[in-house]
Amino acid sequence: MLILGIETSCDETAASLVKDGREIISNIVSSSLPIHQQTGGIIPETAAREQLKYIIPVIEEAIKGVKPEEIGAIAVTTGPGLIGSLLVGIETAKTFAYVWKKPIIPVNHLIGHIYANFINVTSKPSEIIFPAISLIVSGGHTELILIKKHGDLKFLGGTRDDAAGEAFDKISRILELGYPGGPAIQKKAEEYLTIGAVKKEAFLPRPMINSGDFDFSFSGLKTALFNLVQEKKQGGKKILTEEEKSLIANETQEAITDVLVKKTIEAGEKYKVKTIMIAGGVAANKRLREKLREKNQNKFLLSFPPVSLCTDNAAAIASAGYFNYFPAKIQEITVDPGLTIEE
Ligand code: KG4
Ligand code: ZN
Repeated sequence: MLILGIETSCDETAASLVKDGREIISNIVSSSLPIHQQTGGIIPETAAREQLKYIIPVIEEAIKGVKPEEIGAIAVTTGPGLIGSLLVGIETAKTFAYVWKKPIIPVNHLIGHIYANFINVTSKPSEIIFPAISLIVSGGHTELILIKKHGDLKFLGGTRDDAAGEAFDKISRILELGYPGGPAIQKKAEEYLTIGAVKKEAFLPRPMINSGDFDFSFSGLKTALFNLVQEKKQGGKKILTEEEKSLIANETQEAITDVLVKKTIEAGEKYKVKTIMIAGGVAANKRLREKLREKNQNKFLLSFPPVSLCTDNAAAIASAGYFNYFPAKIQEITVDPGLTIEE
């Protein structure tokens, strides 16, 4: 079945056609990121206005050459996300579903991220075997989810304050490396390794690393870093050198990935799963992937979505709609900015 996915939860306007949950026919993503880079973060009102501009052209491009009768259903993100942005996608999806007389499937954005792992790509095992653990790490979420089978998900733990991506973004802002922070910090950390700097002892905390549960906390890391930078500045220097920034970027990346990897493997062991899959924007991080491979020691099958499907896209939403085929009545589909995966 061909499913049209629509995703507008944040600053990406995305539409995609996916066949049988696995094969991408089209995948169009238009991002208003350059506008948000000017303000160093997303202003919800601006994001929603940009969604309005691009939603129809993006859908038009995604369905080019395909007749409406070939499309089996529409899957749309209903939350979590920014209310104004979400509404644009939901109301557009409803209109298409009404006019074309198609079933419409509401999709939880977080579950959508997980299904980037089911799309046919080389960076995943040929088959994902359940039970599985998924680490969802994005700008707004850090969650460990146990998946016994499609549609059977259990929340194991999540962040008590900042999300992993948020930590990357805030620390990047302190270091003046730009937005989004994750790719900027990754790049700066790579410089640290190429300048041949001596490996320093860990100097940032690894919050909750030995807490024995599956919760996370990243706000202390940001505060520790802020204090460190202030101290350096008070020591007479106005700015950090590029070398100091790359050292701190590397340590930030190490601290965040140490906690994520340790808890993910512990969850896999506790629930005796077969597969570990990572998802969300931070899943694009190279060091996170490398460290997970190192620490896994072939215990679990590991699945990584391609980098282009880690950040927000509609192909993953279409795939989630296929494997969790629960259409709802048009009038019952509403926006839910605070949607979670049930605890
Ligand atoms: O999933 P996503 O596109 O949007 C949300 O649903 O939040 O994730 C965006 C987040 C941002 O915080 C960004 O800094 C982070 O993902 N990110 C990364 C990388 N690429 C994106 N974090 C670490 N390393 C990366 N390479
Ligand atoms: Zn997302």
